[in-house]
Amino acid sequence: MLQRGILSGLRRGLSSSQAAAFSTSGVSQSLFSDVQVAPKDPILGITEAFLADQNSEKMNLGVGAYRDDDCKPVVLNVVREAESRIAGSNFMEYLPIGGMKAFSDLSVKLAFGEDALPIQEGRVAAVQSLSGTGSCRLMAEFMHRYLPQAKIWIPKPTWSNHHNIWKDAQVQQELYRYYKPESRGLDQEGLLEDLSKGSPGDVVLLHACAHNPTGVDPTPQQWKEISKLMKEKQLFPFFDMAYQGFASGDCTRDAQAIRVFLEDGHLMGCSQSYAKNMGLYGQRIGCFSIITDSADEAKAVESQMKAIARPMYSNPPLHGALLVKEILGNEALKQQWYEEVRGMAERIISMRALLRQHLEDLKNPLPWKHVTEQIGMFCFSGISPEQVDRLAQDYSIYMTRNGRISMAGVTTKNVSRLAEALHKVTTD
Ligand SMILES: Cc1ncc(COP(=O)(O)O)c(C=O)c1O
Repeated sequence: MLQRGILSGLRRGLSSSQAAAFSTSGVSQSLFSDVQVAPKDPILGITEAFLADQNSEKMNLGVGAYRDDDCKPVVLNVVREAESRIAGSNFMEYLPIGGMKAFSDLSVKLAFGEDALPIQEGRVAAVQSLSGTGSCRLMAEFMHRYLPQAKIWIPKPTWSNHHNIWKDAQVQQELYRYYKPESRGLDQEGLLEDLSKGSPGDVVLLHACAHNPTGVDPTPQQWKEISKLMKEKQLFPFFDMAYQGFASGDCTRDAQAIRVFLEDGHLMGCSQSYAKNMGLYGQRIGCFSIITDSADEAKAVESQMKAIARPMYSNPPLHGALLVKEILGNEALKQQWYEEVRGMAERIISMRALLRQHLEDLKNPLPWKHVTEQIGMFCFSGISPEQVDRLAQDYSIYMTRNGRISMAGVTTKNVSRLAEALHKVTTD
């Protein structure tokens, strides 16, 4: 006689073996008994440890989200203004699969420049995406379907989710050298040597600015060398631009790598995110674009981007697109945004200077020049995983075990305490 659990499983349309597994009678296994607990995301683990810590002076330097000088999350005034302008909108319908066209038109101008030739020639395929992660995911899926021979070249190290994204899309990954621990700077020689091994049509993931986690960006001259090599080797650039404006405070300057590649006539892909530079983290708003060879190619590529998006999430969310369109589409609001994003970048830059100053005042024997040379939200401090553990245990200061400090969590009030703790763990 069939057990009740199996019968119930069969009624749900499962095969007889699945139905047996579905049975909860205790004789057979549960359907989920082989599912293991997934490893914790390292950042979430840090947040949990931070929240459980009772020390009133504790610091969370793990999370990559901007904080003001009181360590509070910030909603930009320009976003508040845009919210008030779109409030009461009667439009709550679905967006098209590719999102809001007016939004993506404005986005690609921000990335490639108002007068960029590929835009004028209609050669840019673009869709609204679920922030930077969503753009990368679409690119990875696009590669899986349409560039099946292509490998993705990923810098070592990189934002850890890059690996998950291309792994899930079953695209073969190769690493290229990026960071040189001895100089705490760019390993340009290693980078060029590794990329020269790429095959024509391979895709190279480049952080457009404010490289995460190292804070190390190539100089304009180094970008030129990278672009030249990639052109020779017929490698396709994919820029992940999660921090435009947030790095230097200037949106054009932060897009200079892209502009160098444009000048050299590259076709390229680009992922944009408005999480950091507009503080729209939870709105999941970004843009995924590909510069193609012709307007016809752009049409075909864009239609396939939509074909990938449709079974994943059908269409992207409305609210963030309305906000960004309002801001980028209005000259006064755009200027106000430029000011505010500059303010955030400058606060971080000044915290870098203060941290370095304090460490040097403490006569710490290690060099700390890299703290001010690196750029963006993160400082790759160079301390060891054991020293990171000591910071957490002895000083309630939390960061990822690779020694990455989120400078967004450093303020005029806690910077001296951080410097003293760093001094202690690096000298004791
Ligand atoms: C390099 C890089 N790419 C992409 C992202 C994705 O961010 P989001 O999906 O929130 O836009 C991040 C976030 O930290 C990042 O650092």
